[in-house]
Amino acid sequence: MLSRRKFLTTVGAVAAGTIIAGPVKAAIKANGKKIKLVLIGTGVRGNSFWGKRIIEKYGDIVQFVGLVDHNPGRLKYAAEYIGVDKKCGLYSNFEDMIKNENPDLAMVTTTDATHHTYIVKSLAAGVDVLTEKPMTTDEFKCQEILDAEEKYKRKVIVAFNYRWSPYNTKVKEMLDRGDIGDIVSVDFSWMLNTSHGASYFRRWHGQREHSGTLLVHKSTHHFDLINWWLDSEPKEVFAYGDLEFYGRNPKKKGVNCRNCDEKETCKFYWDITRSKDDYERYVLNEEHDGYIRDNCLFRPEINIYDKMNVNIKYANNVYVNYMLTTYSPWEGWRVAFNGTKGRIEAFMDVPYLNTETLSQEELHAAEMNQEGGTNANTKPIISHKLWGKQKTINVPYSRGGHGGGDIRLHDQVFLHPGKEDEFKHMAGTRDGAMSILIGVAARNSIETGEPIQIGSLTHLQPKSKRI
Ligand SMILES: NC(=O)c1ccc[n+]([C@@H]2O[C@H](COP(=O)([O-])OP(=O)(O)OC[C@H]3O[C@@H](n4cnc5c(N)ncnc54)[C@H](O)[C@@H]3O)[C@@H](O)[C@H]2O)c1
Repeated sequence: MLSRRKFLTTVGAVAAGTIIAGPVKAAIKANGKKIKLVLIGTGVRGNSFWGKRIIEKYGDIVQFVGLVDHNPGRLKYAAEYIGVDKKCGLYSNFEDMIKNENPDLAMVTTTDATHHTYIVKSLAAGVDVLTEKPMTTDEFKCQEILDAEEKYKRKVIVAFNYRWSPYNTKVKEMLDRGDIGDIVSVDFSWMLNTSHGASYFRRWHGQREHSGTLLVHKSTHHFDLINWWLDSEPKEVFAYGDLEFYGRNPKKKGVNCRNCDEKETCKFYWDITRSKDDYERYVLNEEHDGYIRDNCLFRPEINIYDKMNVNIKYANNVYVNYMLTTYSPWEGWRVAFNGTKGRIEAFMDVPYLNTETLSQEELHAAEMNQEGGTNANTKPIISHKLWGKQKTINVPYSRGGHGGGDIRLHDQVFLHPGKEDEFKHMAGTRDGAMSILIGVAARNSIETGEPIQIGSLTHLQPKSKRI
């Protein structure tokens, strides 16, 4: 029989990506006790993916003992939406929650720039943490988290769901087994469209003080994929970035969509009242914190980049070329790995290479779907050996839930944390740091015009092979 202490140790082992014995489910059942969870940040991601879905799928082994959010209206809405039982405490601050509850795991799903506060407070209270990406938004907060983890001897899991999709895992498998020899360079482009891409500029994400810019908020996913695929750590970063398409526009009024007199003519007009959830979660709770979810894409407060190009030199001397655009006519991505024995190309939703016929709006809806998807399909990866023939590997694929990554991450954390993690999917603070630090370095490089050394940002020194 495993005690609660043993369960906490288990979470630590999972975060470190190590193999541990005995699934938590059995341990919890043997003890007759459920894992006690608190959710900090009750917005859409917390409500659905880390809330409702967890109760639906793992309700027999977990229970919510507390929800925390500084917006009391959203907190109340979340309690109903998730379906927590009456004993679950609703708190507008962490301190009251920790005084009353004794959670096993704190799940942090607040706005990006506030993650570190709750990660550090939870660790200090002796509680392990699962945090949404990005782990945090700057190098100083990052160092605070690293120090707290070491000081309080508790662990942090960073929820990098993109790693878990079968498609991205297949790329990892092919690279790891040396299909193209040693990797020498990578070309990675990510296109966001005028639905999903634009949505970042409506929300808090459009202000760097909340999101750290898309180089941190969004690219943390992409930089983590590269780090994981290459099995190495970034050493030096040089970048360009600018804001040209969205943001301050003297021809636009800059008020939110609901109050705008350009409803009939603006291509970006978005009616938040059409979604009951959005209306009840955000509009009805504006009075508490003033957060406007359907803000204008052309308001003067926007201070993030909308085009970004980044060059990364890895500690193992791989060169990476990365590009993120936010107003492409189509949304999708392409990555190509050059190796000493060949080239691998992987891509998603490039319209002229696609067999699916979803509109850009339907793709946006699928991307925002937090529940996981079904409509299974296959997606190709192209492998081409030097002087050899091109081969297509078709990988099973399901849309929604971030390419099937979301549900696999959940299962590993809650259902079988003891399962062997062959492809090192689970991520801890070092992975969380190495991905955001590329974005932070890119930001610093854009501001200074200089290349930035990753090793200058925190105490972490890049290793040529990930540990
Ligand atoms: N992994 C993924 O694919 C994925 C997808 C969506 C969102 N996310 C992440 O999830 C997190 C939440 O995103 P979201 O889309 O749900 O945003 P959201 O705006 O819907 O929710 C954020 C919530 O945090 C609360 N909050 C903000 N600051 C707070 C503070 N200081 N103390 C307490 N509560 C605070 C807000 O009131 C709000 O309820 C973000 O970090 C985001 O990057 C990850």
